[in-house]
Amino acid sequence: MNVELIQLQKHGDHRGSLVALEDQKQIPFAVRRLYYMFDCDDARRGEHAHHQLRQMVIAIRGSCSFSLDDGKEKTEVLLDNPAIGLMVEPMVWHEMSNFSEDCVLLALADAHYDESDYIRNYQEFLRHATK
Ligand code: TYD
Repeated sequence: MNVELIQLQKHGDHRGSLVALEDQKQIPFAVRRLYYMFDCDDARRGEHAHHQLRQMVIAIRGSCSFSLDDGKEKTEVLLDNPAIGLMVEPMVWHEMSNFSEDCVLLALADAHYDESDYIRNYQEFLRHATK
């Protein structure tokens, strides 16, 4: 399946690096919410899809594996670069695993938290995805 990885401009000099994100520019939507995960260790997270939500995720520290499944094809991406954003579009089942101890995974989302937008059952996801 088509995976969109967005290269974020890194402003670097002898003092270090800086990435700036502005919505509807580097982030291809208007950001309504951000959240971040850390201390995940050997957990498996995600394991859901969204009906409507668009998100971009960035491993701002450390690394994790991100698996994406559109109901037809699956793919796995290693997120290990704070200057790469991975787009997670609606109706994509996603799972995160293999978190490094120091991993901080930032998600930017185009809507507020809404449990009714989640599909948390894989069989139900497949029924929607293959319609
Ligand atoms: P959960 O959906 O299980 O996280 P993940 O997809 O990473 O496995 O969310 C964990 C808890 O956090 C759950 O009680 C819902 C809550 N939560 C919010 O309150 N707001 C949010 O924006 C998110 C993403 C989760």
